[in-house]
Amino acid sequence: MAKAFQSPKGTKDILPEEQAYWRMIEQVMEDLTRVFGFQRLNTPIFEDTPLFQRGVGEATDIVEKEMYTFKDKGDHSITLRPEFTAGVMRSYIQHGMASRPTPVKLWSAGPIFRYERPQAGRFRQFHQFNAEALGEQDPVLDFEIMDMAWQFYDRLKFKNLSFQLNSIGCPDCRPQYLKRLKSFYQNHTSTICDDCNKRLDKNLLRLLDCKQDQCQPVIEKAPPIYDHLCDDCLDHFTRLRHYLEAAGRTYTLNHRLVRGLDYYTKTVFEVWAEGIGSQNAVCGGGRYDGLIELLGGKPTPGVGFAAGLERTVMIMQHQNITIPEMRKPAVYFACQHADAQKQALIYITRLRELGIPCLMGLGGRSFKAQFREANRREAAYTVTLGDSELESGSLTIKEMRTGTQEICPLEQLVDHFKTVLNC
Ligand code: HAM
Repeated sequence: MAKAFQSPKGTKDILPEEQAYWRMIEQVMEDLTRVFGFQRLNTPIFEDTPLFQRGVGEATDIVEKEMYTFKDKGDHSITLRPEFTAGVMRSYIQHGMASRPTPVKLWSAGPIFRYERPQAGRFRQFHQFNAEALGEQDPVLDFEIMDMAWQFYDRLKFKNLSFQLNSIGCPDCRPQYLKRLKSFYQNHTSTICDDCNKRLDKNLLRLLDCKQDQCQPVIEKAPPIYDHLCDDCLDHFTRLRHYLEAAGRTYTLNHRLVRGLDYYTKTVFEVWAEGIGSQNAVCGGGRYDGLIELLGGKPTPGVGFAAGLERTVMIMQHQNITIPEMRKPAVYFACQHADAQKQALIYITRLRELGIPCLMGLGGRSFKAQFREANRREAAYTVTLGDSELESGSLTIKEMRTGTQEICPLEQLVDHFKTVLNC
């Protein structure tokens, strides 16, 4: 026998049993984005490679190691999107969305691709719910974005979430801070890991979120960025914190939070949860006031977030969050032979037109086997159709939960189910 194929490493099938979680998430996304005034934008799954190189940043892990990049048949370098933000900005610029009333609020959802080392909660194809608000500097928008993330998880009934918040400054104040950070780290080059020694030359901020044990005592003592924020960044951060506090949205100040994408300015945040192994970030985002200009648009501020949906589902399962039941077949028709099936199909068709889910026993199996199947499929009612029913013009309807049976004339069958199933 030929070897059976498996899904590629780092990908997963979303099986029928899991679909109810995804449907619930979709409903919450639709509802929430409407309430917050966001409009949906679908961008292509692949973009020209330079968009991500410039947008996400050459020195990031995503661009250096994780992109699915290939040449298409026309010799163009194409990349499967490793995040939404750069593509959404490209679309905003391309379609002149700056002329729309600001803020322009756009949301998207769909698959994302990163060539990472797979582990619990970390995939090579995963899905994000992404939201971006463009065209305003006001920290009210940072609050709204964070609040939307909050309400997303609140509506999904999550418990024990932790909102991590930081400001990483702007091009005015960050260089000063980085200089300070560099000189601090230069006294610790023999203690820190090899990666951090490399970061000293190319990505200083990422020193702060190194996970290696040997680097932790150094990070603990590193100067926090708050002390170096310029007046504008400090005012922005202070106002955001006031809004969060006024709304009762508790958060943890985390001066180590720097995020893995280069476009952020001022606010950065993450939502952490338990139940997904070491991958505890279920959502992340922040402000990126220079990104649109970097990608060829007019200077336009922006702020947004993305929630990882596989991780969201994993936590829903871990926290035993109840989800609305998948609709089970309401009526199962057990048929004795082909003539009975022919008659049953007339009723099944009419019941389905009314939105009532029906199933019929196939394959000429015995009544016993068909009843067993009705049970396994958790049908609410079983209708028996055989010689005697066809002759008498009446059917037996069994309510599976209680076992009660009743006789119903064939011509009243549809009305009967309309009544008992309230359709
Ligand atoms: P990110 O933090 O790279 O941000 O990703 C957002 C979320 O996607 C993470 O918090 C995590 O839940 C999920 N995620 C990331 N990588 C994986 C993976 N390999 N497997 C499963 N889930 C994963 C961004 O992508 C930014 N574009 C967010 C943003 C939007 N910032 C501003 N606007």
